[in-house]
Amino acid sequence: MNIKKVGVLGCGLMGSGIAQASATAGYTTIARDVGEPVLEKGRSGILKSMGRLVEKGKLAAGDRDAATARLSFSTRVADLKDCDIIIEAVTEDLELKNRLWQELDAICPAHTIFASNTSSLTIAAMAAATKRADRFVGLHFFNPVPLMPLVEVVRTVTTSPETFDRAYAFAKSLGKEAVTANDNPGFIVNLLLVPFLLDAARALERGIATTADLDRAMQLGCGHPMGPLTLMDYIGLDTVVKIADIMFDAYREPRYSAPPLLQRMVIAGFHGRKNGRGFYDYSVDPAVPSELGLGGKR
Ligand code: CAA
Repeated sequence: MNIKKVGVLGCGLMGSGIAQASATAGYTTIARDVGEPVLEKGRSGILKSMGRLVEKGKLAAGDRDAATARLSFSTRVADLKDCDIIIEAVTEDLELKNRLWQELDAICPAHTIFASNTSSLTIAAMAAATKRADRFVGLHFFNPVPLMPLVEVVRTVTTSPETFDRAYAFAKSLGKEAVTANDNPGFIVNLLLVPFLLDAARALERGIATTADLDRAMQLGCGHPMGPLTLMDYIGLDTVVKIADIMFDAYREPRYSAPPLLQRMVIAGFHGRKNGRGFYDYSVDPAVPSELGLGGKR
């Protein structure tokens, strides 16, 4: 069965980016989140992102208008019942995700594929909560979704070859490059990226270098587009800690444990760019390194 209608659970940074990519690729798309304010934030983020792409000549104005017309928003899970594929991008909480999957499992047709954008949870733990474990995959996108070309397509023990092929083809139809990963926490990218990011926070904590120099070193020394501390702010420090906790739980290796500095920052409400405070203070333009109680100016 061809995919025509796409459902997206969650309209935060990742969910809205996925909904944007789906609508731009020609799919009728519905994004669901718990309340109007978060849907409105998602909608305005999509319009802003599309506006930038039009300005840069990367998207025709007519295609932007058509994509916008294909996109709708809802607070009701039941409104996703006639979708051919549903991509979940809600917070990294297995119970929450499984409650949503079970609700949808009861109302979606048999052919509907369930796909999770989880960064670190096991796909098997979601598939097993449904009666369609063979039609369950991981589709892991990267932030910012409209610009990052990669999707990890994740096969778990129960994923049928047909479901995997359909999900892989769907990822490619969004204009993305797909790679195949087995269902291990972190897949390919986060398995390698998360310890690197945590090590950058550890280096700052140990006073090895300042925030700006740590970032500059990796940008100029290794050609990274963003330094690791800037990248953590970009992903969201609360999200980084959640991913690290899940990976540490799974692997029990110190390199996946969130350092105390990062934990303290999240407790103090430093969530990164999304709320204006992280390793950098975004209340000024350009952002400046935050004073994090480490002694001395960072
Ligand atoms: N939508 C549309 N256009 C956007 C955009 C968006 N959301 N964000 C940025 N842009 C555009 C800008 O307008 C700009 O356009 P021009 O170059 O034509 O002027 C262009 O993209 C570049 O933006 P900036 O100048 O602001 O910044 P930049 O050159 O540093 O590029 C970036 C931004 C693409 C994000 C780049 O810094 C980058 O690739 N950073 C690394 C991102 C990364 O590693 N992402 C993965 C995170 S890990 C993850 O997502 C998985 C997980 O599970 C945690």
